[in-house]
Amino acid sequence: MKKVFASSRLPGDALSRLAQHCELDTWESDSPVPSAILRDRLQGCEGLLCLLTNRIDAELIAACPSLRIVSSMSVGVDHVDLDALTGRGIPLGNTPGVLVDTTADLALALMLAAARRVPEADRFVREGRWDPAAPWHPDMFVGRDLTGATLGIVGLGAIGQAIARRAAGFGMRLLGWNRSPRQVPGVQTLGFEELLAEADFLSVNVALTPDTHNLLGRDAIAGMKPGAVLVNTARGGIVDEQALAEALAEGRLFAAGVDVFSREPVEPDNPLLGLPNVVLAPHIGSASQRTRERMAALAVDNLIAALKGERMPQCVNPEVYASL
Ligand code: DGY
Repeated sequence: MKKVFASSRLPGDALSRLAQHCELDTWESDSPVPSAILRDRLQGCEGLLCLLTNRIDAELIAACPSLRIVSSMSVGVDHVDLDALTGRGIPLGNTPGVLVDTTADLALALMLAAARRVPEADRFVREGRWDPAAPWHPDMFVGRDLTGATLGIVGLGAIGQAIARRAAGFGMRLLGWNRSPRQVPGVQTLGFEELLAEADFLSVNVALTPDTHNLLGRDAIAGMKPGAVLVNTARGGIVDEQALAEALAEGRLFAAGVDVFSREPVEPDNPLLGLPNVVLAPHIGSASQRTRERMAALAVDNLIAALKGERMPQCVNPEVYASL
């Protein structure tokens, strides 16, 4: 039987289904498998089922001559050296689609929480700072309305479009920018700089690639509309965290909601940690029970298809199938 290594336990019955098709070795700890152990456990394996916390680089791929299938339980694949896999003819599976609504929900949650200062107000109540001498005041915790505000969506893929649908329900005006021109009903597309200058809320929804690395760098952040709110549910490397923190500390931006970071977990000296006007989350965009089970199921469907010699239902590099 073909051997497969799964770098994590998965929700639902996905791994028990996979085990019917291969000899399955599973990493049982919640900590990511160290790369040297990953390399050792992959010896003799044809398949790898991985998470976004596993770095699948060219060195690892070269050290695993039997490897011919990789499936990641994630839509983003910036943790994988795609060229190295494609060069070896190895298909890479991912999990788009199933996490779209859940991630869009979190973007709206962060937008609302940042605009209405919800975590700040929560801390105020819990920490006993709600003063009986000043129980309510017209200036207390005033924030920003979504209704009537302009939302700029950076990246009009499936998640960006799902955010647009939700934001339309809040009565927002919708602007968008996409690397390759894309028309989305109800969304006016603009140039990148124009979008930054016009958006009261900016939602980052592009994949992290060499082209989008630092897309929201210091100059782009300086070009954002004064008082805007930035929300990032895509990947940390797209936004310059130091420049964002400075803009928030100086009050040039009103607030931010950040689910993804350039280094995860965040380091204690991350400049965003000390700011009251940032809502933080530990990369939980797709974290609902149903969605995580669907991601696991799709990752396993990709692997099983490849084990059977079929095309993966969701393949990032379908060019490897040129000969199929
Ligand atoms: C992904 O799938 O790439 C998300 O970041 C985690 O769900």
